[in-house]
Amino acid sequence: MIGSWVGNLIYEGKAKRVYRVNDELLIMEFKDEVTAFDGARRENAPGKGRLAAAQTVFFMRLLSKYGIRNHLVDWDGDRKVLVRSLKMIPIEVIVRNYAYGSFLKRMPLIKPMTKFSRPLVEFHLKSDELHDPLITSDDIIEAGLVNNDQLSEMVDTALKVNTILSNFMMSKGLTLVDFKLEFGIDKLGNVVLADELSGDTMRVLINNKHLDKELFRKGASALELVKAYEEMNRLLGIP
Ligand code: ATP
Ligand code: TYD
Repeated sequence: MIGSWVGNLIYEGKAKRVYRVNDELLIMEFKDEVTAFDGARRENAPGKGRLAAAQTVFFMRLLSKYGIRNHLVDWDGDRKVLVRSLKMIPIEVIVRNYAYGSFLKRMPLIKPMTKFSRPLVEFHLKSDELHDPLITSDDIIEAGLVNNDQLSEMVDTALKVNTILSNFMMSKGLTLVDFKLEFGIDKLGNVVLADELSGDTMRVLINNKHLDKELFRKGASALELVKAYEEMNRLLGIP
């Protein structure tokens, strides 16, 4: 029972606190806070931590059913999620179905919300001070962040995740615009899907309305964001 797990705080990020339980396990505690613009805008968001944890747990469980290996172990039903401790790969893998966000800034030749002929996969180096720059697969291999097989597995997994989540969302009337994944390596050298899958890390539309953090980036209040996450959970049947 996760409620009885205890751990030492080892990391505090913008969205979560991470506690070490033992060699194998960590607790990710989702905060009741929302940030944007590299933390420059920050507000308390009562209820958000539980909603984002519920989304993450729901999507990780859905992906497990399709054989996608991920770090989820247990959930306390509130803001804490028990996960396998991994050596994180400092790369954000982004999958895009429609043109939006930073894609439009670097590729102005494509109109906003154009549907791509096939999903695009891209990599960003996780570095707050460099603002997560776009990097190539050659860069990744040269820097030794992962080997070729591991990189192929990350791309394959990201595309499978996209198919599963897009189809699921579509069946509920929602559109998955884009999302971000993070991976880690376990002790056997396996690539494992990690971190979170929530309104903070994906763009999801219903009738052209965002149910994700884009609302906050565009000026909505934290309260409005929490309402949108509640709506996402209601529409997707997330408890
Ligand atoms: P960013 O928002 O840019 O991702 P952050 O550090 O503010 O950065 P948080 O989500 O607040 O992000 O922090 C969670 C941290 O836990 C991240 O550094 C993430 O890479 C790490 N993490 C996620 N899953 C695991 C795991 N299974 N094992 C080890 N670390 C993990
Ligand atoms: P992207 O369009 O690259 O960035 P921005 O949000 O700056 O316009 O974002 C693509 C998707 O990845 C979007 O669903 C948000 C998600 N994402 C994260 O979860 N964390 C990040 O640090 C970044 C840059 C994006």
